[in-house]
Amino acid sequence: MNPALRQEYLAALGLDAWVARGKSVPVAAGDGGAPPDALGAREAGVDWPKLRARVAACTRCTLCNTRTQTVFGVGSQTAQWLIVGEAPGAEEDARGEPFVGRAGQLLNSMLHAIGLARDQVYIANVLKCRPPGNRDPSLSEAAECLPFLEQQITLLKPKVMLAVGRIAAQNLLRTDLTLGRLRQQVHRFGLSQVPLVVTYHPAYLLRTPTDKRKAWEDLKFAREVCARV
Ligand code: URA
Repeated sequence: MNPALRQEYLAALGLDAWVARGKSVPVAAGDGGAPPDALGAREAGVDWPKLRARVAACTRCTLCNTRTQTVFGVGSQTAQWLIVGEAPGAEEDARGEPFVGRAGQLLNSMLHAIGLARDQVYIANVLKCRPPGNRDPSLSEAAECLPFLEQQITLLKPKVMLAVGRIAAQNLLRTDLTLGRLRQQVHRFGLSQVPLVVTYHPAYLLRTPTDKRKAWEDLKFAREVCARV
């Protein structure tokens, strides 16, 4: 990427310099908990259009009573990167697209900073419906919804997954470890064992801009992981 453009993106992220780091990529030993293996089975064999229709018609949990619409996911169906957040917020629920609010704008800047346009990646959430008041997803809501994401992963075959935020990371990895403990390691997701990297949620970074530099390190780390797959 053109250095001036990169500088512009870094500035948008609130970072003023690229800090060169070593190339080593540590791998998590004995990753927290069993992968959510058989989860994908419920939607196995379902193609993109059918999966989208199934999500749109889903009544598996009570969130269907309060949603405006489901938020399936957006992006390239041949993307190498899958970004996974927690759940739609108010703007996402209104527009039917993940990460379209202020946090989404920061996510776009973060992606740009590592040379990725929003339409080059695929973006989805653990939950396809907005929890009222933006409360955390319950365990049962996540369990009911994860098979949809599992099938999206099967269809997409991403080279790397980026879990943004503690809630997404803990649900995907079935752990209660803190985000600080989960970042800067390569985890593996599901039967396909897709490499998964954890970073901060952009909404958190909007509140805590001093951690943007750590998020930048995570993005570079994920890029290294993607490059070596
Ligand atoms: N936060 C998320 O985790 N996902 C969205 O789609 C929007 C905000």
